[in-house]
Amino acid sequence: MTNLTGKVALVTGAASGLGKAAASALAKAGAAVLLTDCDLAGEEAAAGLVAAGLKASFRLHDVTSEADWAAAVAHAVDDFGRLDILVNNAGISGGRHALMEHSLEAWRHTLSINLDGVFLGLRHAGPPIAAAGGGSIINVSSILGKVGMAGAAAYCASKGGVTLLTKAAALEWAPLQIRVNSIHPGFVETPLVANALAASDDGNALRDALITAHPLGRMGLPAEIAAAILFLASDAASFMTGAELVVDGGYTAQ
Ligand code: NAI
Repeated sequence: MTNLTGKVALVTGAASGLGKAAASALAKAGAAVLLTDCDLAGEEAAAGLVAAGLKASFRLHDVTSEADWAAAVAHAVDDFGRLDILVNNAGISGGRHALMEHSLEAWRHTLSINLDGVFLGLRHAGPPIAAAGGGSIINVSSILGKVGMAGAAAYCASKGGVTLLTKAAALEWAPLQIRVNSIHPGFVETPLVANALAASDDGNALRDALITAHPLGRMGLPAEIAAAILFLASDAASFMTGAELVVDGGYTAQ
């Protein structure tokens, strides 16, 4: 039921971390995948999939740019003939900020990528997915879209916004057979987390604390999140829409 042969997917933030792993999982399941990112390293990720005999291409894409979204969606449809699946994955941590000193500029920067970027993805990918007869949209939120964390106000607000934006879209597009779900990963040591640890005064202690916060006693792996994204993208999740899929080693069960 997770076979995606004949389907076309667009994955944002696919140059690194969870997006790269998700693009690989979708391509291995048979989908043609357009990897997009504002980092040219995505080109290498797409080339690796093509070299393995899978269908993939890459396009530079800033998810805060409406023009880039229009071009990326057109590119997917031109290259592969349709669009069935969107993974709104691109995101940033935004760094740690004490709320009493948080600048409006830093707040807006995080919100523009993590929340506006998802809105623009829905806005631009919705019409071609509807034209294809329906499909699946996966918005990458976070455990921090369900529970808070000190020092991460903008990130939590952006990811909480994604959680509810997902449900509104799911209700609006259920008649179009477009399923829209959010995924809530626990901590995974991608560059996003590794850089945040490196920027911290005591990265090793913070890393240990993060590991301890997951009852399974470790951080997640990109492939474990990608497997859940593949599930949501596929017919195995055909009766799921507006749902929050938590993949967090028990972090939010406490
Ligand atoms: P990452 O830093 O490895 O990858 C993020 C990718 O997004 C990068 O390739 C980056 O170039 C791209 N990106 C950033 N700004 C962009 C923009 N304006 N336009 C297009 N691409 C842009 O991070 P990771 O960990 O793979 O994160 C992916 C998503 O998963 C993010 O939305 C993040 O918030 C979310 N997430 C990550 C968790 C983790 O522990 N790593 C946990 C929960 C959620």
